[in-house]
Order: sequence, then structure tokens, then C-alpha cells
Amino acid sequence: LASIRQDVSAVEPGMQLTVLWQGKPVFIRHRTGAEIADAQAQDAEAASFIDGLSRNENLDATADASDANRVMPSPEGEAEGAWIVQMGVCTHLGCVPLGDGAGDFGGWFCPCHGSHYDLAGRIRKGPAPENLPVPPARWVDATTIELG
Ligand code: FES
Repeated sequence: LASIRQDVSAVEPGMQLTVLWQGKPVFIRHRTGAEIADAQAQDAEAASFIDGLSRNENLDATADASDANRVMPSPEGEAEGAWIVQMGVCTHLGCVPLGDGAGDFGGWFCPCHGSHYDLAGRIRKGPAPENLPVPPARWVDATTIELG
């Protein structure tokens, strides 16, 4: 896989960057403390998740969809769960979901047919069958993410 490197030093908490990787959008979100707490609180609703798997290419395929399994490890000095990186491709028919708190679960909303994703990118309502995929991603230094 061709990899790309993205400087995220200007992405403040509450901001999202969309970059292209392999011709597809990737959402890089720097979550606020409130967003992290909300996403972690939603772990308690796991019994009602449409897709119970992490869909995280950096983890074993059987890993569950807990918030901790959806986020990147944080750089040193930053709260766990501060960064989430996922494909900006709805798992229904491939539209690009809207972000910045869209939808009934405060995460992303796909307007094509009404799929609601939570703050961990987990599908919670609508026709999409799977959580937003988490691509291979790692920190190469404290402010640079490598995808692929
Ligand atoms: Fe997103 Fe259909 S493509 S809901």
C-alpha cells in the first residue's frame, strides 16, 4: 500500500481534517475532552451496536468496537482517545458522511440514505451495515500521522 504522511500540528481539538488516501477521503479528527467522554460513555450501549467489531486494520479482526479499539494511541502527553482516524466512506453505498457532530449520535451523518455514526465512527442507526473503517495509521513523530 502506498503510504502518505500528514502533518496534524494545526488540527486543534474539535477540528477535523479530511485528506485523500488511495483516492478516498480519510477523516482525521482531534476530539475534545467532551467528545472523548461521550464516545467512551457510548461503550455502555454496546449491546445495541449494529456492528460490534472494531473494523480497525491496526488490530486483530476480532477486536470489539469499544472506543479504545477505534482510536489511535495518543502521542505522549495527550489524553487517550484524542485522535480518531477513519475512512470518510459510508459503509452503505459509499457516500461521504457529514461530520462535526452531525446526526443523532453526535458524530457523522450520511445524508444519502440516513446513516448515523457516533463519535467513535460506529454505525448506530440507518442502513449502513458496518462501522467506518479505520485504515492502517501510525504516528511517525508527535505531530505526523502516516496512513497506509
Ligand atoms: Fe450512506 Fe447510503 S451511502 S446511507
